[in-house]
Amino acid sequence: MITAGPTQEPIDQVRYLGNRSSGRVGIALAEAAAEAGWTVTLLLGPTPRTCSDSRVSVHRFRTTADLQLLLAANFPESDVLVMAAAVADYRPRPNPDVEAAHGKLRRLADGLTLQLEPTPDLLAACSARRTPGQRLVGFALEPRERLLTSAREKLARKGLDLIVANPLETMDAEHIEATVVGAAQQVHTTPGAIPKEVFARWLIGLLDTSR
Ligand code: CTP
Repeated sequence: MITAGPTQEPIDQVRYLGNRSSGRVGIALAEAAAEAGWTVTLLLGPTPRTCSDSRVSVHRFRTTADLQLLLAANFPESDVLVMAAAVADYRPRPNPDVEAAHGKLRRLADGLTLQLEPTPDLLAACSARRTPGQRLVGFALEPRERLLTSAREKLARKGLDLIVANPLETMDAEHIEATVVGAAQQVHTTPGAIPKEVFARWLIGLLDTSR
């Protein structure tokens, strides 16, 4: 199972908090995994991109809460979860002003303050309820200066088998330069920045050899 793309967290009925993820890496991973013979479920966020491979079973989500429900339903059957989605860390708290304004906040001369609440860590929650043999792969988008330190910290904190660390420039780009760190601290690095489709075959190859 692969998750991909951004989340959108509604502010009111017409506005949201989102991020620049295109979903390209996750879609490419789903296609590469299908090509390698895996049965693939892709949980895909709100991006104009689609997955054209008819072997991949695609479910769409919009919010972190939608994705949480899809994971709860599909994770128990999965051998491997690759969490490439750029999941929100915060979402607007339910706001009574939205209802009072009939769904759309008005422009105010004073400005607007949004109250945000943390979202649940979906990957850590899957890790906490996994059964023996299920493998978890996370992604870490980080400034280059702390790429490996932060990735290692997330690998341990979330109880992952593998983490894909990539610099901030990767988001919404054509290429990816990735360092993959395993639970036994083994490190694999792409040969510089490579097209995301090439990276996808490379990462599925890494996962396949340990199937
Ligand atoms: N992730 C998740 N649920 C969240 C946030 C992130 O499952 N609410 C997953 C992402 O899909 C990714 C991994 O956790 O595979 C790391 O995400 P990242 O945003 O880099 O890490 P955070 O734990 O959110 O930490 P921080 O934002 O402080 O770097």
